[in-house]
Amino acid sequence: MTPLYEGKAKRLFTTDHPDELLMEFKDSATAFNGAKKAEFENKGRFNKALTVLIYRALEARGVPTHFVRDAGDIAIIVKKVSIIPIELVVRNVVAGSLAKRLGRPEGGKLRQPLVELYFKDDALGDPMINDEHVRELGLASPEELGRLKQFGLRVNDLLGDLFAGAGLTLVDFKLEFGRLATDPSTVVLADEISPDTCRLWDAQTGEKMDKDRFRRDLGGVMESYAEVLRRLEKELAPKS
Ligand code: TMP
Ligand code: ASP
Repeated sequence: MTPLYEGKAKRLFTTDHPDELLMEFKDSATAFNGAKKAEFENKGRFNKALTVLIYRALEARGVPTHFVRDAGDIAIIVKKVSIIPIELVVRNVVAGSLAKRLGRPEGGKLRQPLVELYFKDDALGDPMINDEHVRELGLASPEELGRLKQFGLRVNDLLGDLFAGAGLTLVDFKLEFGRLATDPSTVVLADEISPDTCRLWDAQTGEKMDKDRFRRDLGGVMESYAEVLRRLEKELAPKS
């Protein structure tokens, strides 16, 4: 295995299969474009386990992802893709940067799911963009961008139901997509889906159960990730 790429929360390695990579989840957490950093024991393990559960659930419901198979405690095998440099955020409830941008308090339900696009570029701090910027930057064709948004809304429906069953409100989340190395016209979900990339609030108490606990110094970060994993495992366990 040869290291190929190291990001803030994951590492990618080549494998002996030319179209597959190994994706390893690190214990590092960053926020505010890397300005805030910390290590959390077991974070890689929790996020790996959650991503596997979620990708399997999505695949079973017809959503294609880059997931191939589990590869131990902190790693998975994924299909080789070229990442589309668009971060697609879907929101159901006002929180985070939307609360600031619109001057609305956190917690208000949105009339309908809201889709936002961000340009995945660390040097620029991932600025928010719109369809016209996507066209100008040549990031995706209008048809492809339309598909990404449809994907986002479908994933929102599926994950919203899944988390609701686990007593969690899916406030918002971020998706990334890749074009398959073997067939660039096929776009699949890539990266991870975990409490690093979703806002999840306890449906009863409203307690934050995601990376906002780190971003906002609320404490109990890994306890929340472990609880999300426990609830999702229970929700997805075969019912007898
Ligand atoms: P925001 O409110 O800060 O824009 O975040 C919206 C959602 O996107 C939230 O669920 C967290 C997730 N997110 C990421 O996964 N990566 C990022 O770099 C940022 C800024 C947000
Ligand atoms: N992932 C981003 C960073 O590392 C920001 C965030 O999730 O808040 O800085």
